[in-house]
Amino acid sequence: MKTRRHHWAILILGIIFITSCGVETTFSPPPLPTLVPTGVATAVPTPPPTPQSNDVAQLPPPTATLQPTATATATQPPTPTPTATLTPTPIGPCSERMPQDDLFTIVTQTYGLSRDYAPQDLVLLTDYLPFEVTLGFPTEIRQIAVQPLIQMITDMQSAGLQPRILSGYRSYAAQAISWEKWNREEPERAAILSARPGHSEHQLGTTVDFGSPELATIVGIPDIQFHTYFYQTSEGIWLAENAHRYGFTLSYPRGALELTGFYYEPWHFRYVGEEMATFLHQSGLYLTEYQLLNQPEPCIP
Ligand code: DAL
Ligand code: ZN
Repeated sequence: MKTRRHHWAILILGIIFITSCGVETTFSPPPLPTLVPTGVATAVPTPPPTPQSNDVAQLPPPTATLQPTATATATQPPTPTPTATLTPTPIGPCSERMPQDDLFTIVTQTYGLSRDYAPQDLVLLTDYLPFEVTLGFPTEIRQIAVQPLIQMITDMQSAGLQPRILSGYRSYAAQAISWEKWNREEPERAAILSARPGHSEHQLGTTVDFGSPELATIVGIPDIQFHTYFYQTSEGIWLAENAHRYGFTLSYPRGALELTGFYYEPWHFRYVGEEMATFLHQSGLYLTEYQLLNQPEPCIP
């Protein structure tokens, strides 16, 4: 009797062992995104501004040629396609949060950056790109985004395009000047052209505004640099389809106003790395939408 019980015990232990081995060999965690160590940009929540009455009137009417973009709201995010896989950044309390995630730092009309935040690895684009691209402006961006940007510009030129770079890093002070200027000169369009100081992704040094020589003809205004119709230019179309392959993502697609506080800006791309940019492109999410769904609320310093 004792021996029979002993045999049963050995049999049951054997089954448990085999089963648990099977679980271990069939489960493997999905890959984590590669995060890049950088300086810390602290986001500070502030109340959103009151929309100006003319903001909507200045946007062009939707047409049949509009590019499809994400239209989800905070309560109804789009369902990612099965091909897009990215593990959300682990969420922890402020005191435990890693400083190296600032390629994904959230910046909206609600969440801003510290007045004294500035990246430490800025470089001059005129040292890397020809005059016809920089137009001679002393535009700076972070070193981490330079090579991907150069590769993208080179490939665009090889495809017969003429990309221009109209803006890159803007300090808190520079953004204040820009905001004042747009608000004074074009108050109706200020909300789509410039963020209030501390609320611009340009302060991160990873964001670039692109231009196209076709824009003036399409809009019918000589020398115009920024207009929603950039999405109709050859350069705008190419960027919308390909920028993710170089790690850049469109920050403000159509329909992002509710979460970002900004209107459609088809010229404004932010470097987030190839993996994140490709994930966003494939899933149909835009960066702020992903951040609000998967990242902790920004810390209050
Ligand atoms: N135009 C965008 C929102 C900026 O100024 O950052
Ligand atoms: Zn911009």
